[in-house]
This record gives sequence, C-alpha cells and structure tokens, in this order.
Amino acid sequence: MEKRGSFGSKLGAVLTAAGAAVGLGNIWRFPTEVGTHGGAAFILIYLACVVFVGMPVMVSEFVIGRSTRKNAIGAFRQLSDNCFWRNIGVQGVGVAFLILCYYVVVSGWTLFYGVSSLAGQLQGARDYEAFFHDFVGSWWMPVVAALVFMLVVHWVVVRGVKEGIERASKVMMPMLLLIIGLLVICSFSMSGFPQGFDFLLKPDFSKVNVDAVLSAMGQSFYSLSLAMGGLVTYSSYFTGDTNLMKTSFSIAGVDTSVAILSGFVIFPAVFTAGVSPDAGPSLVFITLPNVFNMAFSQVPLLSYIFSGLFYLLLFLAALTSCISLHEPVTAYLSEEYGLSRRRAAWVVTSVAGLVSVGCALSFGPLKGLLIGGMSLFDLFDFVTAKLILPLGGVLITVFVGRVMDRRLVEQELSNQGRLRVPLLRVWLLLVRWVSPAAIVLVFINELFG
Ligand code: PHE
Repeated sequence: MEKRGSFGSKLGAVLTAAGAAVGLGNIWRFPTEVGTHGGAAFILIYLACVVFVGMPVMVSEFVIGRSTRKNAIGAFRQLSDNCFWRNIGVQGVGVAFLILCYYVVVSGWTLFYGVSSLAGQLQGARDYEAFFHDFVGSWWMPVVAALVFMLVVHWVVVRGVKEGIERASKVMMPMLLLIIGLLVICSFSMSGFPQGFDFLLKPDFSKVNVDAVLSAMGQSFYSLSLAMGGLVTYSSYFTGDTNLMKTSFSIAGVDTSVAILSGFVIFPAVFTAGVSPDAGPSLVFITLPNVFNMAFSQVPLLSYIFSGLFYLLLFLAALTSCISLHEPVTAYLSEEYGLSRRRAAWVVTSVAGLVSVGCALSFGPLKGLLIGGMSLFDLFDFVTAKLILPLGGVLITVFVGRVMDRRLVEQELSNQGRLRVPLLRVWLLLVRWVSPAAIVLVFINELFG
C-alpha cells in the first residue's frame, strides 16, 4: 500500500484548492452575469451568496475530508453506516468523473486556441465563426485536443499529491494571477475601458430581481466547485494545523477576484471593438479573437501578445480544474481497490478519455445523436451541473449540520481544540438552514424557471 499523500504547506493547499475553483466559469460566465444583472449590485449579491451559501458548504466538505483523511467515498463510509448518507460520496466521485468527461473537451479547445494563437492563426481579419465551427465540427481535431489535454492532466496527477498536484498549482496559480494582472493593465489603455468599467461596476438596482439572486447563487456554487468530491478529496490532504474556516475565505477570495478581474479584461475590449457582450463558448472562441484584433488594430504585435496570454490564462484555469476532477476518482480507485496511484490514474485517464471522445464529437459528426433532445455534451452538462451538484450540496449540508456527531465537527473546526472558532454558531446556523434552503430554490429555478 502506498503512503497517503498530504500537502506540504498551507499556501500550497490554498493554491491547489483555489485552482479547483478558478475555472472557465470565472472567465466566461461571471462577467456576463454581472453585466446583465445590474453590475456592482450583482457583485454585492454574489458576494453574499459566496459567504452565506457557498462557504458554509465548502467548510462542510473540509470537515468531512480532513476528519477522515480518505477519498470521498471512503470518507462517507467511515462517517456513517447508513447507506443513504454513504451514497453522497459515490455521488461526488461519480459526478467528478462525468464532469471530467466533458470539461476536458472545452479544455482541449483552450489548448487548440492557445496553440493557434501562438502560430499567428488568430491574427488579422478572418471569419472567426467559421474558424470555430470548422474546428469543433472536424472528426479529429477536437478529439486530439481533448486527449492531449487529458494526458497533461494525467502527467500531473500521476506524480502524486505533493510532487504533482501541489507543485503544479504552486507554479500555475501565481502564473494565472500574473497573467490576469497583466491583461487588466493592458485593458486600461483601451478606449473602451470607461464603458467596460461602467458596464461591470455601475450598480443598477433596478435589475435586481429574483432571477438575479438565483443566478448569483447558482454561479457561486458552480464557481467554488462544490459538491463534486474534489474539495473533500483535497481537504483530506490538508495537514492537522490548517485552519479550515480561514482557508475557505482565502479560496473564495482568490476565486472571486479572478472572476471580477476577468470582467476588466473582457469588457473594455468588447466595448473598444463595439460588439455586444455575450456569454459562454461563443464569447471566448468567436467574439474575443475578433475583438482582440480590432482593439489592437494599430499594433498587431500587442494583439498577438494579448490573445496569446488570454488563451494561456484559459488553459491554466481549465487545467487546474480538470486536475481537481481527476484526483477524486484516482484517489478512490487507488485507496479502495489497492491499486497503485499510477495504475488508478491510467484507468481514469483511459475511461474518461474514451467517453470524452463522444462529447468532443457532439459538436460535429455526432451532432445528430440526441438523447432527450440534448447532444451528449449538453446531456452531461445538464445531468451534472443542474441535477447532481445541487442535490449533492443539499445532502452535504444536511449531513454535516444535522447528522454528523456535533462534537466531531467542532473538534475538526477547532483543530482538536487548538483554535478558537468564533463563527461556529453562525456557521452552524447557515449550514442547517440557509445553505440547504438556498440550494433547493436554485435547483427548482434551474429546472422549472
Ligand atoms: N469551478 C469551475 C469553474 O468556475 C467549474 C467546475 C465545477 C470545475 C465543478 C470542476 C468541477 O469553471
């Protein structure tokens, strides 16, 4: 049996978990949500959701992971003999696997766009819509991109918790923060900066309605990567002196800062080019390459550097998130079935790689293959993000807030009595009432709203 890994430093632990949280959602979804739901008014609501709904769930996951120091399935098995509650772990590892299968497809796109941008293919006036559709519609390009990306993830995970995942995060996260800082500084010089700034930060309280609040809640939950086994697994590698509450503040702080800064990168460029801001893949793969060219039409070299850095940013954000999806499944296989880490990681890489081929082709050759009216990619996204994640979130809060032995929870939060936990009562109140109720509302809204 291999020795169980653990993080070497607190900073490493924070950067690794923040890497799980910072992902494509921060960059292509958050800014547009802010813009359409009232600017700074939305940011305030979002912050409240992070603090009152997301962070209590995150700390609950930390309690489960660190108190057992096991993979997500083993952790719930140790904490309960009731098969209903044990099932949360299975759900967490299962959903991580399913998300990996389609997240790696879009991650592969970031790799392709990064390479294309370096090769100068995203330069100059061209039909970026056709460029995108030719790429995703091809038989082999998106597949190769996804599989190469998966191999990069594998390469990191197989090296272990400290030498692989933590070490990579300690390089990639500072790099990501540096890049986003550089891009924001570049944006200051664009003529559309004041407009972009206004779009993002001017509070428009007339746009604040139930829909805005529920969107903020859903976004905070997705953005913090909750309920998918990743944070339970990562926290099982935290050392005994890691302050769980403080760590959750740091992670949420990094995640939210990256999300807000992304807005300062995207909108000044969008307004300089005079196009309308939209969201999702079409924003980053069709609108933005065009926008970067127009925004820097005087200085093509700047456009080259700006777009290269931007796709590198997306690539790093996607990579750290994919690692956090691969690791829970690898840890489970290796700990529960006694496989070596290397072998377990290969099983995950090959099976998820195989399934991801189907998802990668669902924008082209397999477009016609619809299940319940959805392509394979959309089906994976719907089942995981809309169904399983919220359900998992509610179950985790109920489990930690009401089922788990309260003394064990308190001991874990106080590092066996060594720390004072002034927020214990507030946290318990949130975990017992506020978070589960809020998640149920988001769930109902996303399904029927
Ligand atoms: N938090 C990631 C993002 O903001 C999304 C994600 C969710 C990644 C769940 C992994 C698991 O993009």
